[in-house]
Amino acid sequence: MVSRFLIALALLAAVPALAAAPPPLEMNGARNLDVATGWTLFKRPWISSPSSLSAGGGVGPLYDARACSSCHIGGGPGRVAEDAIGEGLAVRLGHDPVYGDQIQTRALPGFDPEADVAFHWQASNGMRAPALDFAKLYYGPLAAHAALRRAPSLFGIGALESVPESEILKGHGHAARIGGVLGRFGWKATMPSITAQVATAFQRDFGIATSGLPGPWGECTEAEKACRAAPGQTIELPDTMRDYLVAYLRSLQPVAALREAGPGFAVFKASGCLACHAVLKDAQGAPVRAYTDLLLHDMGSGLDDGIAEGDAKSSEWRTAPLWNLANELSQGGLLHDGRARSIAEAVNWHGGEASQARLTFNALSPKRRKLLESFLIGK
Ligand code: HEC
Ligand code: HEC
Repeated sequence: MVSRFLIALALLAAVPALAAAPPPLEMNGARNLDVATGWTLFKRPWISSPSSLSAGGGVGPLYDARACSSCHIGGGPGRVAEDAIGEGLAVRLGHDPVYGDQIQTRALPGFDPEADVAFHWQASNGMRAPALDFAKLYYGPLAAHAALRRAPSLFGIGALESVPESEILKGHGHAARIGGVLGRFGWKATMPSITAQVATAFQRDFGIATSGLPGPWGECTEAEKACRAAPGQTIELPDTMRDYLVAYLRSLQPVAALREAGPGFAVFKASGCLACHAVLKDAQGAPVRAYTDLLLHDMGSGLDDGIAEGDAKSSEWRTAPLWNLANELSQGGLLHDGRARSIAEAVNWHGGEASQARLTFNALSPKRRKLLESFLIGK
């Protein structure tokens, strides 16, 4: 208890601007010390070793951002905009032998980042889709496919973690497996737990090593020699600190309850959306109104981003939870890369297994469509 308290104090002292911030709304009363410490770590900008807290370890040599909250604003979704790479958006790779699984756009002094990369929106299917523009690649040609991924809202992920595997396996999608365990986090369900996702965030986004993913070089490959040779501890962030973050993430409640009742829900159901956007039950049998079956579905060529990840094919995506839609829309875009500016656009990108639902949605009268949309944004 005392040591946790001291860590919290040390962190607050290290970031005076954050200490002055108002109490986080997202904590919803679950205000124990682990959660509070985790919240502080979530907002904390990480700095480079050796000047950081001895227990903290350092960012880099290559990284994308310095704080979880630069991409998940207040625990919610990240910004979707052309200037938001490293701030709400990340560039995912279909595993490259030199560049790894994600492009790191920033580097400590003395190191080259991986790339100068931007993107622009191009017209596609009467809507828009992102096109990446690599101005410079610092470690030679890129062999793998590259695509944009947006930072989703984290509200409610504790409830998603609490759904038993047996409940999810009753659904009709493709179950992703990681070493025998069901994958349930990430756009392609590549992560089996919040803890695993947090370790990956530390490695890919900050270049900070945890026990799950040790090595001070983050996700630099052997081909990135200067980065691999940089000094550093094998584990930069102790498990206790990681676990405070996990406690904070588990405490985040969803934005809207979206009860399975009323005329808007009836239209949602009649449109076939529940086939994937299902209501699951937690271990106590209570409904988890996230409207996701947590399984992968083939969404057709329009959403195929050329990157297969884990068990997911390039056209397969985990059904996105819908209980934070109002919040996600306010940051500029839906779907895995933020291309959809409205619920209607998101549905119009639904192909493959979801083609019939798209057709049904498009045949709705304006009044029924409005009811469906109001239901989804919790109005
Ligand atoms: C550079 C932007 C960026 C930063 C910084 C970042 N994230 Fe993320 N986060 C993402 C993106 C993009 C995804 C989706 C990844 C994917 O599936 O490909 C994601 C996904 C997640 C998920 C899974 C959510 C779900 O519903 O599947 C969790 C949990 C998460 N991040 C936590 C964190 C934590 C904790 C930190 C800080 C240690 C962090 N993130 C830092 C961009 C970021
Ligand atoms: C076959 C399964 C399936 C069906 C049926 C389906 N969806 Fe989806 N939905 C998905 C998947 C998978 C995603 C994530 C796709 C991506 O990000 O590329 C998604 C994403 C969404 C999103 C964007 C959420 C976000 O946060 O980015 C909305 C909105 C949505 N669906 C609404 C609907 C509605 C409304 C219906 C019924 C008309 C419907 N969906 C039917 C599988 C389905």
